[in-house]
Amino acid sequence: MRIAIIGTGYVGLTTGVALAYLGHQVVGLDVDARKVEMLRQGKIPIYEPWLAELTELARHNLTFTTTYAEAIPGADVVFIAVGTPSLPDGNPDLRYVRSAAQSVGEHLGEGYTVVVNKSTVPIGSGNWVETIVRDAFEACHGQKPSGRFAVASNPEFLREGSALFDTLYPDRVVVGTRESQALEVLYNLYKPILEQTFPAPRFLPRPEGLAAVPLITADQASAELIKYAANAFLALKISFVNEIAQLAERVGADVTQIAKGIGLDQRIGPRFLQAGLGWGGSCFGKDTAALVATAGEYGLAMPIVQAARDVNALQRHRVIDKLLGELKILKGRTIGLLGLAFKPNTDDLRDAPALDIAQRLVERGARVRVHDPVAMARAQTECSHLEVQFCDSVEALASGADALVLVTEWAQYRDLPWESLVSQMANPLVMDGRNHLDRERLTQAGYRYLGIGR
Ligand code: UGA
Repeated sequence: MRIAIIGTGYVGLTTGVALAYLGHQVVGLDVDARKVEMLRQGKIPIYEPWLAELTELARHNLTFTTTYAEAIPGADVVFIAVGTPSLPDGNPDLRYVRSAAQSVGEHLGEGYTVVVNKSTVPIGSGNWVETIVRDAFEACHGQKPSGRFAVASNPEFLREGSALFDTLYPDRVVVGTRESQALEVLYNLYKPILEQTFPAPRFLPRPEGLAAVPLITADQASAELIKYAANAFLALKISFVNEIAQLAERVGADVTQIAKGIGLDQRIGPRFLQAGLGWGGSCFGKDTAALVATAGEYGLAMPIVQAARDVNALQRHRVIDKLLGELKILKGRTIGLLGLAFKPNTDDLRDAPALDIAQRLVERGARVRVHDPVAMARAQTECSHLEVQFCDSVEALASGADALVLVTEWAQYRDLPWESLVSQMANPLVMDGRNHLDRERLTQAGYRYLGIGR
């Protein structure tokens, strides 16, 4: 099938590369000419494991362009996968979706096209996009686009850092549309994934026992709300365990044992119960804010979702409180942050807890040093406003420091030469914000170790 993907961010690029790998002809469209030029040269603008390797394998089915006239006519499916950043009131900014939908309408070809909303959009956006596409077509061609297109919602559940795995081996595929023809097109598009008939790439083996992926069909509003409800539920699972972690600290219990103990109950499940500094990234914060804002438009409060947000915001304060509790005075202290990216295996810094924590420490007069195995270059460009020292090595970060705070649980931080680092610090305090390090080993090496909820 011929596919056009508008937006080559995390979602658009991953979806495009995966679909090209499955054998579809994919055109990736982006208004950012620099990005398109990079992609044409086979360079990947984001850090995402295996994306470069899969792009190489799918190269013969992949092209990139900046022009709608090249991408849209002739496409069987057009994905809108542009950004929907938060506005100050919590609602998503839909200007990029609007402009994409308008351009799609202007360039619709002769055949039947399914326009898919892949961006996370407020409930009801399917109808809105349909109207924009229709109006743009009529304004351009002076006739109605009868039978030429349908709009469907197809929310994305991939996680950054494991985006390709999640795309090729999803827990489910959700399609929201009332049109049977559109459903058939999307069924055929996803058939290799639904039936797991594609050859698994060597570097992304198929999980054992995965024979088929469920397809959930729903009306558009339900599909749109499934996306928000899924993210909100995951976010509140994390906030729940973080709330339990606070009590665990007070009563002398260990939240990691509690998470294991409750997670094995199949009704609860073990995932997303990792206590720590809370969630960051471009999704949970934005989507929970949007859910609360949408509910507000209907006169509804969402106290559970709001509480999850409040707990999450507090987690970032707690690190500072804990450091204060240990060091008493932060002015003039040197604090090293291990990790900048909002989670490991990505260089994404959007709503990264590290940036918030760094800013608060600076405001309290501390000297802040930062390190990240992958996100340093990006941080130096995107966060030049932060008055922090960027360190190329963990040794430079630790030397003379009064405390190290682990913010992002990169695997390599667990295996650092902790025994030799200890003597280089002015004060061997380690605040493990993700309960990621080997507590015994650090304690034996002479550190004062502080975790979360243990
Ligand atoms: C999240 C969802 O997991 C995806 O299903 C969804 O598609 C995506 O948002 C989206 O809406 O685009 P993502 O934000 O990429 O994915 O990453 P997650 O793995 O969900 O992690 C989010 C944050 O939660 C990270 O800061 C992570 O450190 C934190 N987290 C996660 C915890 O604090 N504890 C946990 O147990 C799990």
